[in-house]
Amino acid sequence: MPDLTTDPSALVAFPQDRACPHQPPPGYDSLRADHPLSRVTLYDGRPVWLVTGHALARALLADRRLSSDRTHDDFPVTTPRFADRGRTAALLGVDDPEHQVQRRMVIPGFTVRRVAELRPGIRRTVDGLLDAMIARGPSADLVTAFALPVPSTVICALLGVPYADHEFFEEQSRRLLRGPTAADTQDARERLEEYLGGLVDRKREAPGEGVLDDLVRRQAAEGRPDRAELVSLALVLLVAGHETTANMISLGTYTLLRDPDRLAELRADPALLPTAVEELMRLLSIADGLLRRAVEDIEVAGRTIRAGDGVVFSTSVINRDQDVYEAPDTLDLHRPARHHIAFGFGVHQCLGQNLARAELEIALGTLFTRLPTLRLAAPPDEIPFKPGDTIQGMLELPVTW
Ligand code: HEM
Repeated sequence: MPDLTTDPSALVAFPQDRACPHQPPPGYDSLRADHPLSRVTLYDGRPVWLVTGHALARALLADRRLSSDRTHDDFPVTTPRFADRGRTAALLGVDDPEHQVQRRMVIPGFTVRRVAELRPGIRRTVDGLLDAMIARGPSADLVTAFALPVPSTVICALLGVPYADHEFFEEQSRRLLRGPTAADTQDARERLEEYLGGLVDRKREAPGEGVLDDLVRRQAAEGRPDRAELVSLALVLLVAGHETTANMISLGTYTLLRDPDRLAELRADPALLPTAVEELMRLLSIADGLLRRAVEDIEVAGRTIRAGDGVVFSTSVINRDQDVYEAPDTLDLHRPARHHIAFGFGVHQCLGQNLARAELEIALGTLFTRLPTLRLAAPPDEIPFKPGDTIQGMLELPVTW
């Protein structure tokens, strides 16, 4: 038997493409069995630890001995597109105590209260987009007509970014996350930085209402964030604020349309929406592969993670841990799934989770109420979805009603 801890060729590759957009890749089956910690190999042949158990994931995601600093040479990289370690992202790529300083700067824009105030605006956006889609109907690509513009419009209003520029920043975000090459990714990041730099410079003249305007005011009063930090924060908020939620709307819709019994249940009882959204978050685990690097030796689950080792968290496997979820592969709209880790866990837990929940509840609830005959307009197996090395979601979603 090969030594699974030392022979990289004997290890399962991570990440892999899903065969079905709402199930983990079949190639992860052995990882689910090898619970709660495995060795896997990245695209460059590097072996790293893969966390697959729910309790272990929460313990390790809260452990200060794991770092998110992506500039370090041995920080794990899951695709050659992100192999340039020279740059780091605000929040996501910063460790405490510096991370905490940045997080405090932006938290006021994302509290439960702030999100509650945004709900009427989100409803208007959702209804307006559905009005336009229905007027052009009776068929559409739901990604371009609805799933993408909902979060894009909402994050623009919240941050103070002109929605008129959406085609530009949506395209650059797509290239940043999924461009074919590292050069493409880097070029997209530079274009976004240039655009957002110009935007915050203009805001300095006449700050308005958004989160970025508040940061500009803070800069004037306290000297922090400086321009580079402000641009990096703006970039993370803008990209994370629309790509992820767009994928959840498209993939959540696809999943429900493929499960008519659950959809009928949801339509009959809209009060199920909050738990349904939580359960879809768990089941779909669209951000599959959270990355860390050990800065000290860590003894866990009878193994030793050495300082410098890469540690990857497979949310799709962790969120189907049989010790925590009964029948974990089943969509159960009554399941109290809230302690899933689809929004991460620990200090980096998603800043936008309240906003994402509100958008998903309103978008999915309104879509299925207003279009009772909504159905897929192509054979389900032929509808393209995203590859495994990026955030999971539908590339297109042809629907009719
Ligand atoms: C359904 C949609 C979303 C999903 C699945 C999602 C997922 C995640 C995950 C898994 C993390 C943790 C990353 C890690 O630990 O390395 C994260 C962090 C983050 N998310 Fe989200 N997210 C979503 C929506 C949003 C929205 C709407 C925003 C709004 C701006 C947002 C902003 C952020 C930010 C800024 C962080 C970094 C937080 C930090 O490092 O302190 N996300 N998200």
